[in-house]
Amino acid sequence: MDNVRTENKDGVLIITIDRPKVLNALNAQTVAEIGEAFEAARNDDSVKCVILTGAGEKAFVAGADINELAQMTPITGKAVAEKGQKVFRAIERFPKPVIAAVNGFALGGGCELALACHMRIASDKAQMGLPEVTLGIIPGYGGTQRMARLLGKGKALELILTGDRINATEAERIGLVNRVVPAEELMNTAETLARTIAKRGPLAVRAAIEAVMSGSEMPFEEGQFLEATLFGLLASTQDMKEGMSAFLEKRAAEFTGR
Ligand code: COA
Repeated sequence: MDNVRTENKDGVLIITIDRPKVLNALNAQTVAEIGEAFEAARNDDSVKCVILTGAGEKAFVAGADINELAQMTPITGKAVAEKGQKVFRAIERFPKPVIAAVNGFALGGGCELALACHMRIASDKAQMGLPEVTLGIIPGYGGTQRMARLLGKGKALELILTGDRINATEAERIGLVNRVVPAEELMNTAETLARTIAKRGPLAVRAAIEAVMSGSEMPFEEGQFLEATLFGLLASTQDMKEGMSAFLEKRAAEFTGR
């Protein structure tokens, strides 16, 4: 891969988008490479959690690559949006936790990429926004849908219609990111969160992601049905037996993901 680096740090896979000359903007190749990195991580049992970040100190991802977007036709434009949507959907539905470490500008497609992750930790230097309307387009990688679901329609529309950037403090205040930390602590904070989750029962973590991510798109009763089904399914696992025995025996659980 040319524009995406991966490093497996003892079970925490760090995926870094690395096109510093254009502030890590997403061209078609980079979107495809992000998809490849996640596909490889899906099949790699040594990967317990993923952290997604941008190379350098300035940007997470400064958006889709405007050099490419400027050339699009109605037909290629639709194809571009669909390809990005597919990759971002795979991140949202990824069976292992995905944490965005937002280290700088997360604009347009970069903000949409952070939105597709399960959790977002921001550096105090981060700036986020959906500036597409300033270019005469709208977000095309799921941003209109995820932003409205995360923040509510009013706040989402304010950000989408103005195209304004907000700083990390404001992003935390409105719930766009989980937490803001000093820039130098960003990766350690994301890694600590990843390692905390990695200690939990992996099958339970996977089921919880599915219950929240899929269930929240269903009518409430169907979401509850999914929750009850997954809850029952976990009773078939060695992890459940181990988790409960460990509690009763007053020792730390050692989960095997079986
Ligand atoms: N696509 C392509 N190139 C981009 C880019 C993008 N989304 N964002 C930044 N770049 C390029 C710039 O063109 C510039 O290239 P150059 O050095 O060849 O001139 C380089 O990255 C550095 O960016 P620059 O604008 O000089 O940095 P800055 O600190 O002055 O401003 C931003 C940073 C993020 C505010 C500004 O680059 C910007 O507004 N980018 C576009 C954001 C956007 O609209 N994204 C949504 C796209 S749908």
